[in-house]
Amino acid sequence: MKFDRRNFIRSASVLAALSITELQALAAKSEIHAAGKIIAADDEAYWHNVRQLFPLSKEWTYLNNGTFGPSPYPVIEAVHSGMMDADRDGNYGSYDATPGKLAKFVGADEDEITLTHNVTEGINIACWGVPLKKGDEVIITTHEHVGNCVPWMSRQKLHGIVIKKYTPAPTAEETLARISALINKKTRVIATPHIPCTQGQVLPIKEICLLAREKGIFSLIDGAHGAGMMPLDLHDMGCDTYASCCHKWMLGPKGTGFLYIRKDFRDTVQTYFGGAGSGDDKWDLMTEPPTEGGYAQSGHRYFGGTQANSLYTGVNASIEFIDSIGIVNIHNRIKSLGKYTQDRLLEFGNKVELITPTEERSRCAVNGFRLKSMDNNKFFNTCIDNKIRVRSVPECGLNSVRVSTHIYNNHADIDKLMEVIKKVV
Ligand SMILES: Cc1ncc(COP(=O)(O)O)c(C=O)c1O
Repeated sequence: MKFDRRNFIRSASVLAALSITELQALAAKSEIHAAGKIIAADDEAYWHNVRQLFPLSKEWTYLNNGTFGPSPYPVIEAVHSGMMDADRDGNYGSYDATPGKLAKFVGADEDEITLTHNVTEGINIACWGVPLKKGDEVIITTHEHVGNCVPWMSRQKLHGIVIKKYTPAPTAEETLARISALINKKTRVIATPHIPCTQGQVLPIKEICLLAREKGIFSLIDGAHGAGMMPLDLHDMGCDTYASCCHKWMLGPKGTGFLYIRKDFRDTVQTYFGGAGSGDDKWDLMTEPPTEGGYAQSGHRYFGGTQANSLYTGVNASIEFIDSIGIVNIHNRIKSLGKYTQDRLLEFGNKVELITPTEERSRCAVNGFRLKSMDNNKFFNTCIDNKIRVRSVPECGLNSVRVSTHIYNNHADIDKLMEVIKKVV
């Protein structure tokens, strides 16, 4: 669906159901098309109009985009009309356009994209597909999301691989040094996040992938927070695989994701999950034994069966929505909100410990912190009492709080959190 006024209101039933706020959002919509222009990160009038396009409750302050990104109206409407199109006429529908759109969005080729339901699915396809034997070493961080540690720990249990860990450092240079120090002749994989879920620091991913390439090591990246937070060019990044989702920073429907597998790496990743779309046309069940044939020469080989066409219609709309604002404009805005969050947290001196690096290249839209006078769970509940959504971070004993801000947020949202911190400390 094109992101224009006529298309947005084409569903009469949706229009009839709109509230005053939603109609305001509709009015704001025509104002946000940046048409390729630079929008200043502090153009509050522009970003206010963007905010009107989200059905977020005014009662709650949402500072938890790292968990999931609320969708704007055009995406919600696209999902609705996608379902109607299929269910009204019995038209099977199609997700064919989505891999191509995603590929363009992340700097890849269409046949390098596999549609998934979430990041975890993409990580599992890559993790289980790469050839590893007993004693082979895999480098991950101490800051992993469960989705990027359970698959590797399962391979540790089943195949005897060895997991090595590094802790992300306050600077990109030191992080690289820590990874280098773990590499030896047995290292086969670096399976690091691009941006860890814990404190949101941006790791020097291009250098990490280059390091891996130079040493003949696979780079399998957990890109949960990359797509939609910043411009991506996966060919330029040089990773072997990149598992991401459309339901966080891309603001798309929940339960949608994708996995990039570099073309020349595809035959290295064994297909364990196959079905319609996975095989080529050479298989033959009628021979004895049945002829196996080969796999599809695209990312389709890793999935099969019925897909949620309406959700992918929503993914297409989320890419159009982001494109209409401009991913560079979005990145600049959310990076400036992240900086504002850091500056405000630092005002509390030693009463609050900011755990996300302040180094320019290592920070973006997510920040982690601890309060000296209150534990993270208690503070999380205090936030809920004040109708603010953040995330508590128990992972790796960090016992911290995470605040993540997207384009629907503004300084007042962050100030509201700071008022709560002020009362507590
Ligand atoms: C860094 C990271 N990796 C993986 C995941 C898992 O993502 P999904 O729920 O899409 O499988 C998350 C989710 O928060 C995450 O933050």
